[in-house]
Amino acid sequence: MIKREKIKSLLDTTDFNREVTVMGWVRTFRNNQFIAINDGSCMGNIQIVVDFANTSEELLKRITTGAAVAVTGTLIESLGKGQSVEVKAVTIEILGDSDPEKFPLQPKKHSLEFLREIAHLRFRTNTFNAVFKVRHALAFAIHQFYNEKGFVYMHTPVITASDAEGAGEMFKVTTLDFDKTPRTDDGQVDFSEDFFGRATNLTVSGQLEGELAAMAFGQIYTFGPTFRAENSNTTRHLAEFWMIEPEVAFADLEDNMQLAEDMMKYVISYALENCKEEIEFLNSRLLEDEKTKPQNERSELSLIDKLNFCLNNEFQRLTYTEAIAILRSSKPNQKKQFKYLINEWGADLQSEHERFLVEKHFKKPVILTDYPADIKSFYMRQNEPDAEGRKTVAAMDILFPGIGEMIGGSQREERLDKLTQRMDELNIPQEELWWYLDTRKFGSAPHAGFGLGFERLVLFVTGMTNIRDVIAFPRYPKNAEF
Ligand code: 4AD
Ligand code: MG
Repeated sequence: MIKREKIKSLLDTTDFNREVTVMGWVRTFRNNQFIAINDGSCMGNIQIVVDFANTSEELLKRITTGAAVAVTGTLIESLGKGQSVEVKAVTIEILGDSDPEKFPLQPKKHSLEFLREIAHLRFRTNTFNAVFKVRHALAFAIHQFYNEKGFVYMHTPVITASDAEGAGEMFKVTTLDFDKTPRTDDGQVDFSEDFFGRATNLTVSGQLEGELAAMAFGQIYTFGPTFRAENSNTTRHLAEFWMIEPEVAFADLEDNMQLAEDMMKYVISYALENCKEEIEFLNSRLLEDEKTKPQNERSELSLIDKLNFCLNNEFQRLTYTEAIAILRSSKPNQKKQFKYLINEWGADLQSEHERFLVEKHFKKPVILTDYPADIKSFYMRQNEPDAEGRKTVAAMDILFPGIGEMIGGSQREERLDKLTQRMDELNIPQEELWWYLDTRKFGSAPHAGFGLGFERLVLFVTGMTNIRDVIAFPRYPKNAEF
């Protein structure tokens, strides 16, 4: 068995003058005397003091940035600046060499773009150590939040035959041989010959299956990977991302909004409390970054201010119709600065509009509700048409500063006749969703839920600016490396 102590606990201790063993990767080696080792347990390194007069030159040469080493020595209080403890090495063993000519991570600042190309090694930087610790904490906090509330964690299928969002942005799953695809008499691909005997795809959302479970357990949530084959090359979109989807029976849109706001505040405050060091690091990182920008592009709040602001303020709630009125008379609309001008009710909101509402107008998270039925999914509950006969659904989108849409959800259409009528209008075949419709036939009840894009949450809490930097190995158009 390998015995070692973690650097995190050694940096915190005052139990000096004892023998310790640390293992980690060399960050720097100065003056043939001081090795900074990091083992990932925290962002900090421990300093190893090498007795270089009594260390062979051959070994000294192998202590290079990136090498894995095991050091046994005496833990002592450090007299040097910048660290409280250090290890006076007695033995140093190289576990794995790292050719300094070839190792791409040098002890200097690398651009995030460059680090994306070496995503297999970028975990070894302080920035990515911090980002992925925060990501971990947020995932844990989400489970804790729902567990405390008595929700059941459901694992919904990754491979499915249905299109939960009705948007058709799906990756096909098949074992058919592309060179000799079986054909039906009318020339179509014969999926009856395929692995599942029918056409299947990677799920875009676990919601429909989540609803089935909610209609038995009362409260469930999913937390799993989802896939979208949309050709979006933006800093907010991934082809593979993780989504949290709670679904609650006997709940309406109001309950849904409350649950979402409570969850967001719970997980953000968990991260602030449990990732102090990481968030402070990311906060300073962002401040440095801001200094390189022109004054008028700098953000008014630091990362930590932004997170606290979000905790201490109620999310602004308003309807789509109210938002359209604000947008229509807004300066950028009047001055034709929006790329997509808002002229009439019914227009889909673009990210420029969402950003205006959140960042310029309200300056806080916003919950937009009651969108036009025509721009939302088939399963959303139909509201009574308004005085002007316009049709809306009980939908909600939660918009965050710097992010845009963080959460999308709705109260669900629990009335069978209304649901099937809408499906017919949208040409969604009822036979394919027979099991979904069954819940409306046997003990239907009001229910609601939403989906939180996990990477967008991580983006907000870490203050990173590109979604490709908050997931280990991002998948996006023309990229599936690693
Ligand atoms: O708004 P969306 O498409 O909603 C649903 O999928 C519903 N079935 C959720 C539900 O009601 N249970 O996606 C939900 C969230 C978005 O608000 C966004 O945060 C995130 O998922 N999201 C993406 N994140 C990264 N990359 C993408 N391509 C994303 N598409 C959606
Ligand atoms: Mg959405």
